Amino acid sequence: MDLLTGAIISAIIVLFVYFWFSKNTGHLPPYPVRPLPIVGHLFVLVSDQRSKFKKWREQCGDIFSLQLGSRVLVVLNGYDLIIEALVHKAEDFSDRPLTVVENMTGLPQAGVVASSGRTWREHRSVSLQILRNFGLGKNILAERIQEEVSFYINSMSECLGRPTDIKMMTTMSVSNIICSVMFGQRFDYTDQSFIKITLLLENFFRTFEMNGIINFVPFLRYLPGDLFHLKKFKEDIQEMLRLLDILIEECRDGNKGDNLVTEYLQEMNKRKENGADTTMSENDLKRLVFDFFNAGTEPTSTTIDWFVLYMLHHPDVQKKVFDEINEHVGTEREPNMRDKQNLTYLNAAIMETQRLASIAPYSLVHTCPRDVNIRGYTIPKGAYITPSLDSVLLDAKIWGNDVMSFRPERFIDQEGKLLTPEQFVSFGVGKRDCLGESMAKTELFLYLSNMFQKFEFRPTEQGNPPPLKYNLGVTAVPLPYRVRIVSRI
Ligand code: HEM
Repeated sequence: MDLLTGAIISAIIVLFVYFWFSKNTGHLPPYPVRPLPIVGHLFVLVSDQRSKFKKWREQCGDIFSLQLGSRVLVVLNGYDLIIEALVHKAEDFSDRPLTVVENMTGLPQAGVVASSGRTWREHRSVSLQILRNFGLGKNILAERIQEEVSFYINSMSECLGRPTDIKMMTTMSVSNIICSVMFGQRFDYTDQSFIKITLLLENFFRTFEMNGIINFVPFLRYLPGDLFHLKKFKEDIQEMLRLLDILIEECRDGNKGDNLVTEYLQEMNKRKENGADTTMSENDLKRLVFDFFNAGTEPTSTTIDWFVLYMLHHPDVQKKVFDEINEHVGTEREPNMRDKQNLTYLNAAIMETQRLASIAPYSLVHTCPRDVNIRGYTIPKGAYITPSLDSVLLDAKIWGNDVMSFRPERFIDQEGKLLTPEQFVSFGVGKRDCLGESMAKTELFLYLSNMFQKFEFRPTEQGNPPPLKYNLGVTAVPLPYRVRIVSRI
């Protein structure tokens, strides 16, 4: 073999190895497209991510991976695979990774949403216990919610007839519920600090324009010009933490009635005095409060926003919702949790909103604490794992060919009873499923039954509802829109 032939053969081997590894990375789930050097698939994800994920599932099957900087992101699609991973292999798939945002809080992987292992187990169990003491899933919490709903409805009554954007009002009201649980107090909608923290919260979810993918790539912080608004993002997080800290401090004198902060501190002191090996700490409390404030407000408020928007598009559904309330509750008294069992159509319309809006399309990111095998592939320790809830909630094989239509009837059986298919996974599945599911369901029912009993919601321009467009951050939030509120009573 002469020198030239040797060089050609070597070059072919090098190219083959490069292409083979960049396309078919050993036992990793397949890449849908070839990654770029260094950044991998980062910029492939910048736009139109939801439809790309759908296309890549068709192309690669239920599991595929992407390279984000130096990290691997594995996307799990379809009900069976998501259950296999998050339920049957829960020990392997239930940790959270350390992300850029985690570091920005200054309280990385503390509390419940972002922690793993012992810290997560202890905080999940303590916070559930405290919420149960406050009546989670029972009437006490429902009464707190009902009280807040009355303030909200009064505030809405002041906007009758004129074009109104209800999002801020809704966010403040829903936020008041988690605030009353955490701090034992609600805030007036004109309270300046409360307005500020609500705006920060809305921004927190909205600033993730790139769906948080940048969240996983630390080196982007160092690019010049704050291309991804990370500096502003960090400032906002710190300001939110500062404002929440003030509220935590106010709970220490014990004058605020029942509240999560006091209960947490008492439990922490008890465990420490008993010499228990506890992960509870002041920092974990701060982080828990931050997480509950965010998780307990935005998804519920956004679901209400979507519900109103769908009603503007489907006045026939809105009429059926009202007729059912009118028949079973009337308009003389406020609907309460005892009415839930009779308002089947409303419940179905809420579930259809959650399904079609699929507000947390990629749930929250998980990771695995060790190398894990699934469906013949190896997912390396520390990889980011995204269960695509979109791939279940918007799957035509599950919901039929009209999967993209708004049709509450799909949740009602032939005898008129409410159906709850196991594929209704809006709150996630497995050990890390939504800790506030029962609270969120109570909130959604009480807000929407009261709103649609009292008011009709019309587009500001007759026959021309606002577009069903959204901003994709951690959640899919409808673009701001205005609505005309008309009294029914
Ligand atoms: C319609 C409203 C809501 C929706 C759609 C929703 C959805 C979700 C989803 C998809 C997850 C991630 C599951 C996973 O990691 O696999 C989650 C986690 C969580 N949610 Fe919700 N949520 C809602 C309301 C609430 C409320 C009202 C609270 C109140 C406290 C709450 C607290 C949490 C917490 C603490 C976690 C983290 C659980 C953990 O990591 O162990 N959520 N939620």
